[in-house]
Amino acid sequence: MPRLNNPSTKSTAASQSDTAQADLTVVGGAGHVGIPLVLAFAEAGMTVNVNDLNEAVLALLRSGKLPFIENGAAPLLSKALANNRLTFTSSPSAISRRGPVIVTIGTPVDQFLNPVQSAVQDCIDALLPYLHDGQLLVLRSTVYPGTTAWIDSYLKRLGHKLKVAFCPERVVQGNGIKELHEMPQIVSGTSKEAEQEAVALFQRIAPEVVVIKPLEAEFAKLFSNAYRYIEFAATNQFYMIAKTAGADYHAITQAMKHNYPRAKTLPRPGFAAGPCLFKDTMQLAAFARNQFGLGHAAMQVNEGFVLQLVEDLRRIYDIANMTVGLLGMAFKAEVDDTRASLSYKLKRNLQMFAREVLTTDPFVKTDPAILPLDQVVKRSDILILCTPHSVYADADLKNKPVVDVWGFLKNANVVY
Ligand SMILES: NC(=O)c1ccc[n+]([C@@H]2O[C@H](COP(=O)([O-])OP(=O)(O)OC[C@H]3O[C@@H](n4cnc5c(N)ncnc54)[C@H](O)[C@@H]3O)[C@@H](O)[C@H]2O)c1
Repeated sequence: MPRLNNPSTKSTAASQSDTAQADLTVVGGAGHVGIPLVLAFAEAGMTVNVNDLNEAVLALLRSGKLPFIENGAAPLLSKALANNRLTFTSSPSAISRRGPVIVTIGTPVDQFLNPVQSAVQDCIDALLPYLHDGQLLVLRSTVYPGTTAWIDSYLKRLGHKLKVAFCPERVVQGNGIKELHEMPQIVSGTSKEAEQEAVALFQRIAPEVVVIKPLEAEFAKLFSNAYRYIEFAATNQFYMIAKTAGADYHAITQAMKHNYPRAKTLPRPGFAAGPCLFKDTMQLAAFARNQFGLGHAAMQVNEGFVLQLVEDLRRIYDIANMTVGLLGMAFKAEVDDTRASLSYKLKRNLQMFAREVLTTDPFVKTDPAILPLDQVVKRSDILILCTPHSVYADADLKNKPVVDVWGFLKNANVVY
């Protein structure tokens, strides 16, 4: 039987001893980064204390269900539960008394695009009374440069003797299980002991470990995401330039890439969205005293892309008398996550001009406005492919006019 520590009875002697004995704790362990990481460590033979404020998701995990799409995770969850490798707790007081504590909580930016520094500090403050001297504290969330050193000196000032490490998560959402298994882990520590212990920990799940200093590791993560975001902006801007000139961007990129390796990495145009790329580019911009011109330019292009689309449609069509159907509301293909999805920005903007806006998505289950695909196709005068889910590639769109900036649809009546 799996160890089922009911979060609401976490003060019972049984659950306390279970959590105290776990080999490691993942704080935020029920999140998008947390779950694949928890399962990777469980698969490596460790017992993991899944510590998360979200009791509803903990209950779901305890029952063997996943709260979102994560490829390859379902069998690993069943196996980890069957092998008694997981405990579930929702209070900071229930973290393991020994073994590393890995923090994977969200690290947002505020309405002025500055990092919310208190997110990490509040979490650490809550954990502090329950952390033991000598314990390894690993920051896994993406953080503002300098955060790891700051946490280290903050803990020292308060008289705590913890080993502090920063080991950024770099997996692509939805494929964490595969990528954790295949990709190198970047590891850093604020002391030799912290670094060595973090290396030993991540060697249990990763094929390779790359060691650098904490500030370098923080930059490595932010640069990776900002670079990707800039790449998307480059292709989106090229697309708009070609479109304005009446040229076919997909024909252009096909020609560019044909047997020409240097152009191969140019992504296709589309909605560059989601909870990380924009947010992390803005964290970097805030660090660079808002002088990260390329990052800001990327934000203008990627966020402006959907607004430009609406402008163009308003010029070409009598949108005020049309029903517009949006295909795909998740922030990217084959996931059910709507966080920071540009489909919703497009929807809000279109609602100001169109007669009606309808939405559909095969994966998103959290939005009551979502309708079945056939209804949206039937009722819409024009369709917009927002998220290139594979089911849309050959879908019967009844010859309705479709906007496909991605160049994704095979047999559709693409008009833009
Ligand atoms: N989503 C990704 O693919 C991805 C990839 C790489 C890095 N990151 C970074 O990882 C971090 C987490 O992102 P995410 O997408 O997993 O977020 P998420 O919102 O899916 O997960 C965060 C989890 O932390 C829990 N939580 C928040 N505060 C807590 C606390 N004080 N104690 C216990 N649990 C708490 C939440 O309930 C949630 O389950 C962010 O810094 C993000 O930028 C995300």
